[in-house]
Amino acid sequence: MAQQATGRAGRHTPDRRPVTAPAIRAGKGGTPLVMVTAYDTPTARIADEGGVDVILVGDSVAMVVLGYEDTLQVTLADMAHHVGAVGRARPRALVVADLPWLSYHLSTDDAVRNAATLIRAGAAAVKLEGGRERIPVVNALVHAQIPVMGHLGLTPQSIHALGGYRVQGQQADAAATLLDDAHALADAGCFALVLECVPREVARLVTAEVPVPTIGIGAGPDCDGQVLVLHDLLGLEDRIVPRFVRRYGSVKADAAAAVAAYADDVRARTFPSDAESYHLSDDVALALGVDRSAAPRTA
Ligand code: KIV
Repeated sequence: MAQQATGRAGRHTPDRRPVTAPAIRAGKGGTPLVMVTAYDTPTARIADEGGVDVILVGDSVAMVVLGYEDTLQVTLADMAHHVGAVGRARPRALVVADLPWLSYHLSTDDAVRNAATLIRAGAAAVKLEGGRERIPVVNALVHAQIPVMGHLGLTPQSIHALGGYRVQGQQADAAATLLDDAHALADAGCFALVLECVPREVARLVTAEVPVPTIGIGAGPDCDGQVLVLHDLLGLEDRIVPRFVRRYGSVKADAAAAVAAYADDVRARTFPSDAESYHLSDDVALALGVDRSAAPRTA
């Protein structure tokens, strides 16, 4: 992949040129692409400083941040709110926003209008779930100059239709359908495809056959890139650990320990210290008759 769009370039060189959708498209078969989710300004800064290529403002925000049971609960207004917060971090990484459920299912006009809301909020591309049935929408978005990332395999917005969060494409016919869908999305102009929870062999086949980068999550190591939910990789979310998550931190445990230490200090009256306090000037203290012995000035 071009230097412009590599994560390593972001971290170790002064290259701050923004990563673009065409640069991601050109990354097919090169250095693996790195994508993580972020939902607000601080997590976008963390992701960008970590040198990722793509920040996904995923509709997983519903479960990871907003406390819902599934992604179906999140609205376009919710997504625009979080995309705005990520955009204000001014990341170098490409910001991709998930089109939430029902924002692209009713009509192509509706889909373009809703995608435009996310672009105006700060995204440079959108992601949508589904295969050949989405081709008219992908065509309309591409026609409106909005880069589109596809999403195949386990598509959480179809959770009720799929009957649960399960690995997809395990039978020959399902794998063949997935491959056909991947071809159709690439032909329609998607610049990259997320493959979620599919057998490694199926992801390898799709990656070998389609001309656009595949970005896997639970799809094995042969994809053109990988994506993880930031809160999972940081260990900030620790309730469920899917097989495909690797933890690179224990931020929730570290944060809880920090809060407990703060609570101990407050209860022991060791926080704040005098040095962490503001003081009157000597003149004002004298004029007010303030007794400094009760609060000795140490700094
Ligand atoms: O919303 C999300 O976090 C996603 C990733 C799992 C790809 O779509």
